[in-house]
Amino acid sequence: MSHSTNQSWGGRFSEPTDAFVARFTASVDFDQRMARHDIQGSIAHATMLAQVGVLSDEERDAIINGLTEIEQEIAAGEFEWSVELEDVHMNIEARLTAKIGITGKKLHTGRSRNDQVATDIRLYMREAIDLVAEELARLRSGLIELAEREADTIMPGFTHLQTAQPVTFGHHLLAWHEMLARDHERLLDCRKRANVLPLGAAALAGTTYPIDRHLTAQLLGFDRPAENSLDAVSDRDFSIEFTAFASLLLMHLSRMSEELVLWTSTQFNFINLPDRFCTGSSIMPQKKNPDVPELVRGKSGRVYGHLIGLLTLMKSQPLAYNKDNQEDKEPLFDTFDTVMGCLRAFADMVPAIESKTESMREAARGGFSTATDLADYLVRKGVAFRDAHEIVGQSVAFGIEQHKDLSDMTLAELQQFSDIIDEDVFEVLTLEGSVAARNHIGGTAPDQVRAAAQRARDALKAL
Ligand code: ARG
Repeated sequence: MSHSTNQSWGGRFSEPTDAFVARFTASVDFDQRMARHDIQGSIAHATMLAQVGVLSDEERDAIINGLTEIEQEIAAGEFEWSVELEDVHMNIEARLTAKIGITGKKLHTGRSRNDQVATDIRLYMREAIDLVAEELARLRSGLIELAEREADTIMPGFTHLQTAQPVTFGHHLLAWHEMLARDHERLLDCRKRANVLPLGAAALAGTTYPIDRHLTAQLLGFDRPAENSLDAVSDRDFSIEFTAFASLLLMHLSRMSEELVLWTSTQFNFINLPDRFCTGSSIMPQKKNPDVPELVRGKSGRVYGHLIGLLTLMKSQPLAYNKDNQEDKEPLFDTFDTVMGCLRAFADMVPAIESKTESMREAARGGFSTATDLADYLVRKGVAFRDAHEIVGQSVAFGIEQHKDLSDMTLAELQQFSDIIDEDVFEVLTLEGSVAARNHIGGTAPDQVRAAAQRARDALKAL
């Protein structure tokens, strides 16, 4: 007779589990998040078992009806989770047996919690990926629209955070979009490897029952059964891949956040974020702080932490399943929650960004941002680029001394440095002339930005 409090594996035990150990080893507090997926997997498993004759049709129907009722109990918040029953799997199975009797005990035929939990996480993961992809697409399309609206807006482009050359704001926003487009691809790629069925691997070696894993895979919408039973129960690459995707995404969102924070400062004054995305200070009445981008920037840390945590969790595990794996869920769930929150905040906020075009323009006019244009002008007139560089360098030094931008100098002033300079120089020294001249694929010219936005929209639609 079993002395264990845990009926499902107590047979060989001669004393009950220590109360602390029971709590310490339990995962139900967090893995109940996969309850729906656990039930979905069990229904498919029972359906397959009946198909191959291991369960009768009546047994299958009793199991499916019982599980469907349990799913409703859980959704209604009426299900009583028990830590003594360790995890989501045994809580649901125990409830099923309480409801339908001995037939409930047949559900676990040809299955182990090891392939069961691996299946649950993959089902959860697939759904999570689809939700993230949807939110990412919403952010991307908001970004594309904003870029189109800002195709003609001129701002300084930076290297080393020093004014470099004028660019269009739309072009800058489409640079952000490129980062997200790559993240999106990575996410969908990770889905392919997540969408493989572990069930049938049982504890580690497979099962003696005449199971049909192709049928189970098909019932659950998996592309195929996992190839190797040992690998099937111990592989968590897909969780790491998702967290790696999330780390790159958060790194990108953090870079964007950093720019938003800079741009809303009095010193830059490039954009306004509507009040609803900001908060004030309890002491300084004038303050309006860009909390949303700051928080997103900060959230990157926890997601990177989860990536390192999961890699470390897996790195020393011998095949096949080990209890260590129970530690895979919290980082994964938190990564999902964090990503969804950050994407939602960004998708809501990005379309509401208001550019301060005059102020951006003024900033682009300062810092001699058209110096390269002047050098290119000289090259077109036959000067060697290195000589042109030197001539323009001298003009800039003069400008710094006189507090004059290149475009504010008279022709005579410019001609001090090269008599090749003519009236037509002023066309290239304007900001509009400078951006319009970079008129090739990938360049900052407004027409190129509009074309790139259209391509981005088409690519997004084609996903
Ligand atoms: N709660 C466990 C986990 O998350 C389920 C699998 C337990 N399997 C086992 N043989 N202890 O990994």
